[in-house]
Amino acid sequence: MNNPIHRAWLPHLDDDVPSDCASCADVAVFELTLGCKRLNASVPQLRPEPGLEEGYHIYEEGGKPVVAGGDTGILYGAYAYMEAVKAREPLPEGVRQPFYRLRMLNCWDNVDGSIERGYSGRSLWFEGGGFHWNPRRIRQLGRMLASAGVNVLCVNNVNVHAEARKLIEDEGLPELARFADVLRPFGVRLMVSVSFAQPMGHGIPTADPLDPAVQRWWAERADAIWRAVPDLAGFLVKADSEHQPGPFTYGRSHADGANMLARAIAPHGGVLVWRAFVYNCLQDWRDTVTDRPMAAYQTYAPLDGQFDDNVILQVKNGPFDFQVREPVSPTLLAMPHTHLALEVQLAQEYTGHQVDVYAMNPMWHELAEDLPPERVMAVAAVSNLGRDDNYTGHPFAAANLYGYGKYAWDPRVEPEAVLRRWARLTYALPEAQEDALVRLLMDSRDVYEQYTAPLSLCWMVNPGTHYGPSPWGYEFALWGTYNRADRDAVGIDRTASGTGYALQYPEAIRVKYEDPDTCPDKLLLFFHRLRYDYVMRDGRTLIQRIYDDHFEGVRAAEAMAEALTRLDLPEPNRSEAVRRMDMQLQNAREWRDVVNAFFHRLSGIDDAEGRKIYD
Ligand code: GCU
Repeated sequence: MNNPIHRAWLPHLDDDVPSDCASCADVAVFELTLGCKRLNASVPQLRPEPGLEEGYHIYEEGGKPVVAGGDTGILYGAYAYMEAVKAREPLPEGVRQPFYRLRMLNCWDNVDGSIERGYSGRSLWFEGGGFHWNPRRIRQLGRMLASAGVNVLCVNNVNVHAEARKLIEDEGLPELARFADVLRPFGVRLMVSVSFAQPMGHGIPTADPLDPAVQRWWAERADAIWRAVPDLAGFLVKADSEHQPGPFTYGRSHADGANMLARAIAPHGGVLVWRAFVYNCLQDWRDTVTDRPMAAYQTYAPLDGQFDDNVILQVKNGPFDFQVREPVSPTLLAMPHTHLALEVQLAQEYTGHQVDVYAMNPMWHELAEDLPPERVMAVAAVSNLGRDDNYTGHPFAAANLYGYGKYAWDPRVEPEAVLRRWARLTYALPEAQEDALVRLLMDSRDVYEQYTAPLSLCWMVNPGTHYGPSPWGYEFALWGTYNRADRDAVGIDRTASGTGYALQYPEAIRVKYEDPDTCPDKLLLFFHRLRYDYVMRDGRTLIQRIYDDHFEGVRAAEAMAEALTRLDLPEPNRSEAVRRMDMQLQNAREWRDVVNAFFHRLSGIDDAEGRKIYD
């Protein structure tokens, strides 16, 4: 795709950072001298304050601006200064520190250069079985990450295919070390996904975490890895999940498995990030007792307090898998004695493949209603980056990377403020147009939800690709993803009298969701099985709401398309955004017609407005 970055949120992304920068302070000096010159702003004095670490403080002294900061904070302060000047906002006041110490980006990049669930081209750093990158682009990436505030990059897919195992073996370590060197001056540390079964390729007949030979292998490997990359952040592990190996094979718990790895890397200061995405992916659809969203809690809640101090359990935001709308994962609320990380997905796997516009800050902001930000100690996001010239495919999808970084620094930040700043830094539009772009982004999630899966009608996507509608595609599949629509009703009863899922929540949340009268409409069919003639709070029947939402969602998408054409975006972003919006409209109409036809055929109930439903 030929879509160069025209402008991005950095004021001067087209200039290359010198490759001999060795520290964040070097990059900060470069950014400030160049950036401020471009912005016609006075170049602040830089003042190292090592105690501040990632924090910074911007103030005036003798009428001159000063950016003071810790080792990485100085760079964050430099970007904050330039952002404020360019966005015409007041300089941040007081000492600024990130809310989360680990602000991770999980890249599902494979060493062959492909990306699992990648929608922006091939990998920026892998090709042909190993590392292969353009240094200039990786330095640009470093700036993007640092200016957004991300500080850990996990380089490879959580599904560790055979070839990727060599990343942490002797033949792969020099390359890993070189890659770490490029990103270090941007305050970005690397992490690697490792396979639980890795010792088995080395003459050890088992991966049993309690086997001394396995423990010794990992300890020696860790010594070699940290010798090569002394500041490696740690390992990320997907175990016993979707066919990845794990401790269950040996009758061991996930605490046994995680702690074994954690102990191997603890002497080096590494953290062991263990994913909680564990469920039976070979379920029989006839089994109505097993309820997939309950799985993570069932596996992990009993282990609360059993994980070592350098283990972080990484839990997806919802109990399913990044659907457009899910309640917060109860696992995140059930483990007060475990370090937890919240995992979100920037890659738009179920949310439009970076073809449809879908800005995510409003979604993350909503999490706070049930999940106080203090309940987790770290955040991770599945990356939306790739080798496309603009890095994120859709010119607006960059807002999600930027917005994620801002959210990780301050989970209470107002979504609209973040999106406005991104829009202003990136496009510098006249005020009315800026307002229109911000509105478009702010509404984009609700609009997408309306024309695809309103009322939490999860899993109606095409199996495999996860783009476009297929209401029955997952219905008889092995993945535990059922809506059980029949001629009378749809949804799953997950209350105490149903599967019991709701019982996994603390009382106040359980009560709210268990009663259809207090359960928000948007989560209604996640928690309840309801007849099509069920009367909703607004007086409409359930079936009428399904029809109406799909018709309204398409109308809203058409209004977005019209608003887009009135924006004077620079080329090639404008043409690219318009081209993708045409695809989005097609997708929206497809969803409307397929889902409406599906429910009309099942229920035999006509649309009260007499609109066209294809049968
Ligand atoms: C989803 C996704 C997979 C991914 C998995 C995970 O199931 O479709 O591609 O591997 O999540 O998060 O591990």
